[in-house]
This record gives sequence, C-alpha cells and structure tokens, in this order.
Amino acid sequence: MSKPAIARDRYAVIGNPIAHSKSPLIHARFAEQTGEPVEYGRLLAPVDAFVPHVREFIETGGRGLNVTVPFKLDAHALADTLSSRAAAAGAVNTLRFDAAGIYGDNTDGFGLVRDIEVNLGVALAGARVLLLGAGGAARGVVLPVLERAPAVLTIVNRTAAKAEALVAQFAQAARDVGCRLGGGAAQAMEPVVYDVIVNATAGSLDGALPECDNRAFGTQTLAYDMMYGAQPTVFMQHARTLGARAADGLGMLVEQAAESFYVWRGVRPDGAPVLAELRKQLAVPDGA
Ligand code: ATR
Repeated sequence: MSKPAIARDRYAVIGNPIAHSKSPLIHARFAEQTGEPVEYGRLLAPVDAFVPHVREFIETGGRGLNVTVPFKLDAHALADTLSSRAAAAGAVNTLRFDAAGIYGDNTDGFGLVRDIEVNLGVALAGARVLLLGAGGAARGVVLPVLERAPAVLTIVNRTAAKAEALVAQFAQAARDVGCRLGGGAAQAMEPVVYDVIVNATAGSLDGALPECDNRAFGTQTLAYDMMYGAQPTVFMQHARTLGARAADGLGMLVEQAAESFYVWRGVRPDGAPVLAELRKQLAVPDGA
C-alpha cells in the first residue's frame, strides 16, 4: 500500500526576475533538515502586479513569501503588522499569512549579523564597524548591527545626505546601546582602522568600488561585500590588496533564509551545510 502524500504548507519567493533565485534550493534543504512539511516555489510577478499575485497566493492557501527585488517596499506597504526591524528597514523580505492577517518582517540584517558573527567568527559587540552605502540594503542592516552594540558605527555614502539621514534616523537606537554613530561623505572619514567594513552599495553589480579611505582597512579587518558571485568582487579584491580578510554575501543569503524559515515555522535550521553546498555550486561554471 502506498503511503498517503503528506500535505505540505506552501511558501515561495516572489520577485522579478526570479528564475535564478537560490531560495527554493535553500528552503528545500531546510525542510529536509528539519522535517517540516514545507513546499517552496518561485513566483514571478509583473512589476505593477505585486499585490494581486500575493492575494491570489494567500487565497490558494499560501502561508508565506520571501520578497525580493523590486517588491520589498510594496511588501512593506501591504503588511498589516510589521516587526520593529522591518519598520526600521522600511522594507520587507518576509511575509507570513495567518488568521491575524499579513505580517511583514525583514531578516536581511539578521542574516548579515549571523554570517559575520557565527560563520565568520567576528564579534560585533565593541567593534568598530564601517557601513558603505545608504540605500535600501544599508538601511536594512543598521538596526540589527546596532543591536549587537558595536563601539562605533560609521555610515559613508557617495551621496552624503543619505548617510546623514540614516545617522539621524538611528541616533536614538545607537545611544541606547552606547554606540558612537556618525557618517556622511567618504572625504570626511576619520583615519581609523575598522574591525568590520560592510559594502552595502550597489557598486559591485557593475564592478564599481565605493569611495572609502584606504586607511580604514587593516590586517585584522573583515571586509564584507553583501553581493556574491563566482569570483571575488572588486571590493573584496581591493580589501585583500590592503591586507584585509574578505568575504562575500552568500552566507548572508543563507542566514536570512534560515531566519525567514524560523519566522514561519518556529524552527531554526542550520545554515552551515547549505552554505557549503552553495559555495561548491558557485565554483562550478554554469552548465558544467
Ligand atoms: P539597494 O536597495 O541595493 O541598497 P539603492 O537603494 O538604490 O539600492 O541604493 C544603492 C546604494 O549604492 C546607494 O548607497 C548608492 O549611493 P548613492 O546614494 O550615492 O546613489 C550606492 N551606489 C550605487 N552605485 C555606486 C557606485 N558606483 N559607487 C558608490 N556607491 C554606489
């Protein structure tokens, strides 16, 4: 007698484009690992039709979505309730649907912090941290980084006013944990060596190096690029020529997914084996 099929709860990642998303593989591994009855797919939505696609997913029994480019602001607007980290980020990458309505969360910053602290072994408490960029990606990580109580957080951006706006937005959160928060233009940076430098600019997409004082990089510095690819990014290469250790954002991708899984299922998967598998895949050229 064949076993009855297990009823699985449905989840997906929604974005445009979506074909190359690694989230379905990551969540399939998490489901195997934890034994949770989860099915996870891809949802391509036209750029002007995010809300009807989400509504249809909910009406057909969907339990949650990961949200990626270009819909994180739409998801923030759609949620009935927001986590404090999603409210601070102004963007949502995780939606959960239940009797209480649509809950919006943002696990990106948590993923970054966990990758730096657990996978890469660098404590943020008491550290001097430099954040390059002040767009959506940067804003999403400020609160989770501050919650680890770094001694210093400096935010530098090509458009200085946007960095200054972030400094103003998070001034109270920084005071609460005794962190010295500042920032603005790269030219105005103090010549300080940082423990951790995070590249949250979109520069790596087109091979551009964000402006930053070279004296910020020391041999004990972890230079972290939120982007990833088969080859080290220009930022990572630059950091290495200055003697720093460099890491890409593949671990952040896995850890934000693990936190989304936790938000949905209340069970925390282990990111490390999935990160190792993705790292191996990345080393093999397409079609090999
Ligand atoms: P994202 O959601 O990826 O953060 P965004 O909100 O458009 O996208 O923000 C892009 C960030 O990358 C900004 O900080 C941007 O700097 P500006 O505010 O000056 O535009 C930064 N950025 C993009 N290209 C860059 C480049 N070539 N050099 C330095 N910074 C760059």
